[in-house]
Amino acid sequence: MLVKDKKFKLFISQAQIQERIAILSKRLVEDYRGKNPLFITILNGAFIFAADLIRQIDIESEITFVKFTSYASMESTGKVDQIIGFNDDIFQRHIVLIEDIVDTGLTMSEIMHELKRFRPSSLEVVTLLMKPDALKMPIKVNYVGFEIENKFVVGYGLDYDGYGRNLQDIYVLAQDQEA
Ligand code: IMP
Ligand code: MG
Repeated sequence: MLVKDKKFKLFISQAQIQERIAILSKRLVEDYRGKNPLFITILNGAFIFAADLIRQIDIESEITFVKFTSYASMESTGKVDQIIGFNDDIFQRHIVLIEDIVDTGLTMSEIMHELKRFRPSSLEVVTLLMKPDALKMPIKVNYVGFEIENKFVVGYGLDYDGYGRNLQDIYVLAQDQEA
């Protein structure tokens, strides 16, 4: 599978993704019933994951979308410059951030730091993917879809230089392309 100029191979199938989403959403339903949580989807990458996840969460809840500008191509800068589209009142709300992938954790750490200033009742993270070996910040991620190796992945919302978000499965960079 060629995405832009690099070769990728199948890594996590759409069936496996949906299986994990069923488990994660059950846990979220149990943990947040009666709490009227506000799910905050971090754009762009998490839009497909959020769409599938939220439709399995049949409790009173709200969903919103924000965009933090920071990530360039295949390397994380970890700097959050700007929040776009954030006009929800999160004071004393139960907040669940929906993310596609936690890599170094720098982005998530900054986002959590920013949001905590608005004093939510609670702040948790659900991420589809996590690279534990890449983690540089001591962040707590309560809901993890898959822990993966420290390799670059695309598909199911995740991109390589803007491409590959529309793939139904998740693909990993082919071995002979690795640096
Ligand atoms: P972090 O700050 O290093 O944790 O980077 C988090 C962000 O980097 C994610 O929200 C993704 O947008 C992006 N990212 C990290 N790893 C990958 C990857 O393997 N494929 C695509 N995007 C990635
Ligand atoms: Mg992202």
